Amino acid sequence: MRKLYIFDTTLRDGEQSLGITLNINEKLEIARQLVKLGVDIIEAGFPASSPGDMDSVRTIARKIKGAVICGLSRAVEKDIDCCAEALREAEQPRIHTGIAVSPVHMEKKLRLSPQQVVETAAAAVKHAKKYVSDVEFYAEDAFRSEPAFLVKVLERVIDAGATVVNIPDTVGYATPWQYAELVSFVMDNVKNIGSTVVSTHCHNDLGMATANSLAGIKAGVSQVEGTINGIGERAGNTSLEEVIMAVYSQQGLYGVEMGVRTREISATSRLVSIITGVPVPSHKAIVGANAFMHASGIHQDGILKEKNTYEIIDPEIVGVPKNMIVLSARSGRHALKHRLVELGYKLEQSDLDTVYKNFLRLADRKREIFDEDLHALMGYTGKENDGISIKNISVATNGVSTATATVTVELNDKTITDAACGNGPVDAVFKAIDRIMGKSIILEDFNLYSVSKGSEAIGNAIVKVRCGNNGLVVGRGVSTDVIEASGKAYVNALSKIK
Ligand code: KIV
Ligand code: ZN
Repeated sequence: MRKLYIFDTTLRDGEQSLGITLNINEKLEIARQLVKLGVDIIEAGFPASSPGDMDSVRTIARKIKGAVICGLSRAVEKDIDCCAEALREAEQPRIHTGIAVSPVHMEKKLRLSPQQVVETAAAAVKHAKKYVSDVEFYAEDAFRSEPAFLVKVLERVIDAGATVVNIPDTVGYATPWQYAELVSFVMDNVKNIGSTVVSTHCHNDLGMATANSLAGIKAGVSQVEGTINGIGERAGNTSLEEVIMAVYSQQGLYGVEMGVRTREISATSRLVSIITGVPVPSHKAIVGANAFMHASGIHQDGILKEKNTYEIIDPEIVGVPKNMIVLSARSGRHALKHRLVELGYKLEQSDLDTVYKNFLRLADRKREIFDEDLHALMGYTGKENDGISIKNISVATNGVSTATATVTVELNDKTITDAACGNGPVDAVFKAIDRIMGKSIILEDFNLYSVSKGSEAIGNAIVKVRCGNNGLVVGRGVSTDVIEASGKAYVNALSKIK
């Protein structure tokens, strides 16, 4: 069996495309979880794109061990220099450089002749090789290139020292059989292909990114690129969890082996969703809330007789443990800790005290506490805001749409109260907080959805705000009171603004 390398680009193709500015602690938290999951390569960012990206790639390179840390660059010397500088302290650095190779990109975007593209590509790889031995070359929009030209480019970059060559379907246009055909063509015609790893990088514009990546694996690639939950440019990237579980479920079919710890999939998906503020649809394969639920009578009957009838993956394999007890206000610390550990959380005694206090507060308002509630609780606990917290909110509504909110906030050990009117209670709360903070905040997005089921379910609020040069910042708050959840989310976002 050949090794299949798992290349995660959640922090590069994923994060950049959302327009969200994750802070360095958030990126580190995701990177640490990716190492736990056992991915082989973490693409940490595009250092030349901004000082913030440079900084985060540098910090991840310094602090994260146990995976190759990769930085993206265009086939431009100064980008490559930046990338090399950001990766200087990495245990295993990789520079990922490349250029577009399709006629439309070369002619209209780059305004370069095919020969100039070949020379630029080879020169970029040579330049990157001065810094690191591991250089990956991406042939952007490879799927829409002339296959014979792609072969020529790849031969030159491999001669220049590329250790990995990436064949992206940048615009998500391929079908699985066409993508497999292109990979086979590359395998059969690039003379020096034997000395490199070939990689897939597929986008999901037609909903085929996972299928195309699997077709690529079947046709012989040894590296698959993608993101957790499939986040990424436009319709997203290949969902790594889907590829991993497809290969895991039918390993013989693909003839590859992976080093991933599948039991970390669920925790990784949740973390990425919490940090990026991008919810996972309930029907999403592998990681959606309903992915292992059986609703119809016929299915339930089948499952009870023999699990195999309708269950192709044991949920425990992806880190969703079976639940034997229902937690409520009567549950003790021991039961709570037991379930949290089963769900993958590691708790120190001091953390447990805080979590238990929050748990009881929630259980007072909600009869039964489900796993989703615990995840919501854990997603919030421990990530308390730096120096800001909401102490009280009171709202008076007047007619259908106008409201007045009075909000008390603890800000750097001072208690401040202010009030504002708004177009409804949530708007009034946000405006009162703006007055307290004295900042001009632009609210770009606000989402509220319920965690678990029933009228007493927890509300999970996600806000995206902009302030000064901070880029788009995500905040999240949970509470059984949706106005409180919204206020907490807003304050959580503001706490990340410098
Ligand atoms: O989609 C793409 O072609 C890319 C490359 C930069 C690898 O993201
Ligand atoms: Zn991409």
